[in-house]
Amino acid sequence: MEFSIRSGSPEKQRSACVVVGVFEPRKLSLPGEIVDNAARGHLSDLLRRGDMEGKAGSTLLLHNVPGTLADRVLLVGLGKEKEFREKEFRSAITTAVKTLNETGGFDGTLYLTELPLKKRDIAWRIRQATMVALDATYRFDRLKSKKEDVRRPLRKLTFCVERRNELPAAELALVQGQAIAGGTALMRDLANLPGNICTPAYLAEQAASLAKSHDLGLEVLERDDMEKLGMHSLLSVAKGSHQPPKFIVLKYSGGKSAERPIALVGKGITFDSGGISLKPGLEMDEMKFDMSGAASVLGTMKAVAEMKLPLNVVAVIPATENMPGGAASKPGDVVTSMSGQTIEILNTDAEGRLILCDALTYVERFDPVCVVDIATLTGACVIALGHIATGLLANNDSLAKELLDAGQEAYDRAWQLPLWEDYQELLQSNFADMANIGGRAGGTITAAAFLSRFSKKFDWAHLDIAGTAYRSGKEKGSTGRPVPLLTHFLIGRAEAAES
Ligand code: BES
Ligand code: MN
Ligand code: ZN
Repeated sequence: MEFSIRSGSPEKQRSACVVVGVFEPRKLSLPGEIVDNAARGHLSDLLRRGDMEGKAGSTLLLHNVPGTLADRVLLVGLGKEKEFREKEFRSAITTAVKTLNETGGFDGTLYLTELPLKKRDIAWRIRQATMVALDATYRFDRLKSKKEDVRRPLRKLTFCVERRNELPAAELALVQGQAIAGGTALMRDLANLPGNICTPAYLAEQAASLAKSHDLGLEVLERDDMEKLGMHSLLSVAKGSHQPPKFIVLKYSGGKSAERPIALVGKGITFDSGGISLKPGLEMDEMKFDMSGAASVLGTMKAVAEMKLPLNVVAVIPATENMPGGAASKPGDVVTSMSGQTIEILNTDAEGRLILCDALTYVERFDPVCVVDIATLTGACVIALGHIATGLLANNDSLAKELLDAGQEAYDRAWQLPLWEDYQELLQSNFADMANIGGRAGGTITAAAFLSRFSKKFDWAHLDIAGTAYRSGKEKGSTGRPVPLLTHFLIGRAEAAES
């Protein structure tokens, strides 16, 4: 979809459709009043007659409104003005875009980004509106033999700003919003692909095509290379699978060459059957999403490269399947990680931490300013935080705060859980330096406590996206989270570096 920004009065827009908001009950937003004046009260007449209340999610499409140059005017219900916040703003954009996509016009002009929202500047509104609009039109139909075509899909969207002096900030935000949405869509595409297509080798190919199109450095380690490095924890997970594991390293160099990089580490389990500690059958298909961390890292790299942020970022993706089989790891097996620490595998289904720990040791070589790992790591996180907040744990509170703030700004929120020393004793093993599980209590925290033992040499944060990376049920599919959080975090770092 094509985007543009404009300032100017709604009744003067030559467009297939001008979109204005209506608050509940029956109160036109400011642009709505302007159209109404030009139309000599046409809109207020309709509202008074009860054609529209202004309830959130409702719409009313009008044709040939007198005094306007547009073919149509779309009224979008916004709910009560007093209750209009970020969530309602985003829903209004979604409703508008979905309706425009179905009503036949090829272009739409939105007067929604100037709605009253406390403490959100024009850059935030345009960035969010762009992300939401692209998210709303995302479709994944490449595996269907017959595509359901939208008859006359929306091709161009114009956001209107109130004042001309807002244009430069809005233009920059539009570029950022498109880059973030592009990264989010890449994550959704990769995560939506099934395990028989999206294998570790497929992820490596995708990284290679990203490296080519965006001029990134790429290295893919094979099983032999991992053996030489001593990544026996990672390799223990790959043992049951017929798919060869891949260890993907992607480098974006937008900063000065001497500048230490930010490292992103993404869990890339392309299918998690649980291994010998086999998962129950119900909804096991959803474990194709267990590479969402890896997909989010690739999506974020794409967005960062498109925004040309003045930063160095290194992405590391340990990728493998977790399968049962004659060669698979067994409960009770003891392995030596790349760090030299030994691990007793009490449950082969706690495999994410087993691949991440070696990746965390590997990133030491980059002397990173900070490391953020992203993983669909624990079912316990879904129980604790549901599908709204990503779990955040860190060994550094200022890094944690930065990520929490980025999540708020992006409307892709995270919530911090404690990572006190007291949790470490739950990982005690009689046979190795540690066990790979800590029991049912505090499952998200003990998983992070395990990872923290491999993150002593740098500032580190862990995002548990088990509840937020994808949806189940009728709307099953990847959400693209936490690409918005990660990209906002990196934009923030880039701004701090520039000033
Ligand atoms: N990939 C799963 C975590 C998961 C579960 C993500 C449900 C999304 C939805 C992970 O590898 C796993 O199996 N974790 C176990 C750990 C347990 C054995 C300590 C879990 O959460 O049950
Ligand atoms: Mn598992
Ligand atoms: Zn898993």
